[in-house]
Amino acid sequence: MIPPKPGARDRHVSLWRYWRLFRKDILSAQPDRLFRAKMAEFRTPFFRSYLVNEADLVRRVLVEHPERFPKSDRVTRGLRPLLGRSVFVTNGAEWAHQRRIIDPAFEGGRVKDGFPAMIEAARAVISRVGEGVLDVEEMASHATADVIFRTLFSRTIDDDLARETFEAFRAFQRVQPVATISALLPWWPVHHPRRAREAAARLRGLVAELVAARQADIEAGHAPEDLATRIMTTTDPETGEGFSEAEMVDQVAIFFLAGHETSAALLGWALWCLAAAPDWGARVREEAQVFMAEPGFASLSKMPVTRNVLRETLRLYPPVPMFVRETAGQETFRQRAVKPGAQVVVSPWHLGRHELLWADPDAFDPERWERGKPAREAWLPFSAGPRVCPGAGFAMAEATVLVAALMAAFRFEVTEIPVPVAHLTVRARDGIRLRVAPA
Ligand code: HEM
Repeated sequence: MIPPKPGARDRHVSLWRYWRLFRKDILSAQPDRLFRAKMAEFRTPFFRSYLVNEADLVRRVLVEHPERFPKSDRVTRGLRPLLGRSVFVTNGAEWAHQRRIIDPAFEGGRVKDGFPAMIEAARAVISRVGEGVLDVEEMASHATADVIFRTLFSRTIDDDLARETFEAFRAFQRVQPVATISALLPWWPVHHPRRAREAAARLRGLVAELVAARQADIEAGHAPEDLATRIMTTTDPETGEGFSEAEMVDQVAIFFLAGHETSAALLGWALWCLAAAPDWGARVREEAQVFMAEPGFASLSKMPVTRNVLRETLRLYPPVPMFVRETAGQETFRQRAVKPGAQVVVSPWHLGRHELLWADPDAFDPERWERGKPAREAWLPFSAGPRVCPGAGFAMAEATVLVAALMAAFRFEVTEIPVPVAHLTVRARDGIRLRVAPA
């Protein structure tokens, strides 16, 4: 029942065709040969683009020499009105300073601090789900937004400001194009549709209100101990500087975006995979019922079936399908000279289904994780190297809790086969509608 990778039998893709497909659905624009290739080069009239699937190249770009492959402005442009100069879009010294403030909030035992909020959000979602056909993507977005509000700002999604922020975010997503033509044509003026600019401005206004209220609480000495307080009171050990209120708005915007959209995509696809593979659904339910009888942070490490299901889901449906970088100088890729300013794409979408890296790559088979670990570069849903996702541990704990709570309480059955498409994350074109019944 796992839908085959979408796409395309095509072998040759012209720029114009690629662009049309890219706008329509970047995932079906992918020719089959890219799931076998070690590298592919695309020639556009203005720059070259390289998809790198080979382990050495992936490591060079992400882990060994990330300074030679900064984030490409072409791609982050579309998100600028929302994200300003947040850690997701910056490079060099500015980025390093931001990570030195953000990373401690996620290190070591910190994920544990968010665990009670994850459990409360999971119980809230169970109380909202009824019987019948449900779009689990919608439910997942609501649930993960609830988790991020509770852990970031100690507010639930039912709080007025939190709900308004969530809705403004959805409005932004609906109107922000996935690809802008300026991403392909470097000289093309950057254009943000008016409605996207308005939605981003409204969203940032709401985030600014949340940040200002928290700043006042910190100054008054009664701020709750949550992610926002931690980040707003941490200083960079190298410079002694923390984030200003304005900088904090940029960072909260990315925490909200990176922290709930991605997790929602993972939860939605995990439920779909479990509905499509009911034997795995039953195994997860058994583990989940034990966990939910006495949920504790330490028990998360005793849920191997759920963990392998999540790993397999992230392999087949990586929420962030591709990362784009740019060459800062001259490079050589597989004996080919690559000029400065070329685009470099590392793609969990291709790596996760690559024919040279995985046996039976399109099959949903969580057991493969028991048989042995894949090559490190074959599974990169959270990226790798210094720009690795700081929320990876948080996201795995959150997904385990939400999947466990839902699977312990309900059965999910397939009603139709979802078609993956890339929005800000990998989503289903028409949602993921599953039939829900009590467990
Ligand atoms: C399943 C859930 C998640 C997935 C698959 C995911 C994946 C990723 C990936 C692939 C990147 C790197 C993107 C790039 O280099 O272009 C990233 C960056 C980031 N993620 Fe996550 N993420 C998830 C959840 C979270 C959560 C829960 C948070 C925070 C609460 C978070 C915060 C961030 C931030 C701040 C960055 C930017 C890091 C930087 O550029 O230095 N993510 N994430």
